[in-house]
Amino acid sequence: MSNVLKILVILVTLLLTWRLSYSVTYKLTNVNCASHNKSWVTINECRLKAVSRNRTVFNFNATFHHPTNDIVMNYRFLKRESGYKPWLYKRNIDGCRFLKKPYDILTILIYIVYKDFSNINHTCPLYVNILIRGMYLTTQIKAIPYPSGEYMLQVNWIFYRKIQFVTNVSYEFIENLL
Ligand SMILES: *[C@@H]1O[C@H](CO)[C@@H](O)[C@H](O)[C@H]1NC(C)=O
Ligand SMILES: *[C@@H]1O[C@H](CO)[C@@H](O)[C@H](O)[C@H]1NC(C)=O
Ligand SMILES: *[C@@H]1O[C@H](CO)[C@@H](O)[C@H](O)[C@H]1NC(C)=O
Ligand SMILES: *[C@@H]1O[C@H](CO)[C@@H](O)[C@H](O)[C@H]1NC(C)=O
Ligand SMILES: *[C@@H]1O[C@H](CO)[C@@H](O)[C@H](O)[C@H]1NC(C)=O
Repeated sequence: MSNVLKILVILVTLLLTWRLSYSVTYKLTNVNCASHNKSWVTINECRLKAVSRNRTVFNFNATFHHPTNDIVMNYRFLKRESGYKPWLYKRNIDGCRFLKKPYDILTILIYIVYKDFSNINHTCPLYVNILIRGMYLTTQIKAIPYPSGEYMLQVNWIFYRKIQFVTNVSYEFIENLL
């Protein structure tokens, strides 16, 4: 599956470079986060803010009260069709291994989107302040074309095999053929 996906991404990237008149619009539409274990993780902020007519940014601020060296990022993409339905991708990523050496192509794409806005740019343990400030989506994220619509990246953050918190980030994707 992972190799198939890689080939798909490469083909699609080539295709997109040919289609120069192609453009896409991404927009964050909603965020929801919840801690399942407040003695470990407190969510101080999980909010979208409209900073201009075109730009909505995501601010996230959590406190890890204890260090963690074991993080599994269990995520899936859902597509909204009268309620959110599972859509194609689903992953279990070893977070500490990933921070040492990114290893999964789809997760690398997600990482590229948020890394410049976050302080999670070091290896484990993750501890104390976990921040994402002013994150927004831009049109450069177009490696994987898919149908226009509203999607949600739903992540369960698992430490030592137990879900500690969840983050749900919804966005709208619009394909524009010029
Ligand atoms: C996140 O999304 C999932 C799937 O729709 C839902 O079951 C869960 O309740 C949501 N959690 C929060 C905190 O919104
Ligand atoms: C909740 O967090 C504490 C640390 O504050 C930890 O010892 C405990 O195992 C966690 N509970 C679950 C269900 O993960
Ligand atoms: C907002 O988008 C419009 C057209 O889509 C563009 O002309 C304008 O410069 C953008 N404004 C900002 C602040 O990005
Ligand atoms: C994150 O939240 C903590 C606790 O509320 C606060 O002390 C800290 O200033 C916040 N950091 C940022 C960058 O907003
Ligand atoms: C990590 O990000 C912080 C700001 O969020 C920056 O000050 C620091 O230099 C970065 N560290 C690395 C190793 O990139």
